[in-house]
Amino acid sequence: MKNDSAMKLLVLPGDGIGPEIVDQTLRVVNWFTENAGLTIEIDYGLAGGASIDDCGVPLSDEVFAKAKASDAVLFGAVGGPKWDALPRASRPEMGILRLRKGLDLYANLRPAISFSALLGASALRPEIVRDLDILIVRESTAGVYFGEPRGIVTSADGARAATDTQAYHENEIKRVCEVAFELARARNSRVCSVDKANVMETGALWRAVTTEFGNQNPDIELSHMYADNCAMQLVRAPKQFDVIVTDNLFGDILSDQAAALTGSLGLLPSATIAHGAAGQKFGVYEPIHGSAPDIAGKGIANPIATILSFAMCLRISLDASREAALLEEAVRLALSGGIRTPDIAAPGEKTVSSAGMTDAILSRLNDLSLKREA
Ligand code: IPM
Ligand code: MG
Repeated sequence: MKNDSAMKLLVLPGDGIGPEIVDQTLRVVNWFTENAGLTIEIDYGLAGGASIDDCGVPLSDEVFAKAKASDAVLFGAVGGPKWDALPRASRPEMGILRLRKGLDLYANLRPAISFSALLGASALRPEIVRDLDILIVRESTAGVYFGEPRGIVTSADGARAATDTQAYHENEIKRVCEVAFELARARNSRVCSVDKANVMETGALWRAVTTEFGNQNPDIELSHMYADNCAMQLVRAPKQFDVIVTDNLFGDILSDQAAALTGSLGLLPSATIAHGAAGQKFGVYEPIHGSAPDIAGKGIANPIATILSFAMCLRISLDASREAALLEEAVRLALSGGIRTPDIAAPGEKTVSSAGMTDAILSRLNDLSLKREA
């Protein structure tokens, strides 16, 4: 870590399994403050359904202001059947969308990495997913998620019609491209831009802007793909990709698909950042899975996606890449040591609780740090 002043981390556990997996992750955060000399000041807030129950909205102005004043946010998961009947604009999901939009966090990073210990958990053949390491960079503040006009109108004859608007300004395309290219430089220097330039105006602009950006940055090998073809290529030959950059809606869909290639949604982290300005390190870190109300309260949820989200926080917001790598290695070792929560266990395999998985990761962290000191 480059500077040793305290980092302010706002924790928003949310709903369902959110609080459980966040609690486990905070044990890991504590390990780093106790053993790695990091100073992290933790504050808490409500988000999603928990916030709706408390004050009627999925993310209050007070929590939003706290997020804005912090260095990073660790987010659990939101939503559940209790709030399913609410109108869309006041549903738990709006909490995370408000954070992304309100803090202008336009780049949502979603890695899909396969763990060799879990190759059998993928629905695809092992050779297709072995050593898979792709990164989806999803635009996250614009597109059809936020475009106006939108709404449902009922005409005089009682029939309803709905409108959403897919809109992109070229600057919104360019800035997310910048993030994708920057990240590709630290990987295999290849970016595949995904759009529907054959059908959509926004797609045509997306392709024009990414092409111009690619011409200005010839160190990166840029290719283009239609979104439908990309969906197919992701299951046919996912290892052809390094970094994928795409819009908000395609990114939502393709990132779930990419995550499933690795066998379990319970493993994969994400970061939502705004890295245009030099030195800007703020990010929202969250597992890519949802609140899984069906297993909430049982203590069996897999905490790995949230723990790995904290590893992304270490790397991006705290500049602590050595510590991030240590944590990622501890997770890999726990998995290769056969430790399994139910979501990643093969039939008949012995399973551990959420806390059991965290215990295993903490014990690997202890071993690895002893080794490092020796
Ligand atoms: C995601 C989720 C969100 C999205 C929902 C919860 C609003 O699916 O982070 O991918 O659609 O962006
Ligand atoms: Mg999604």
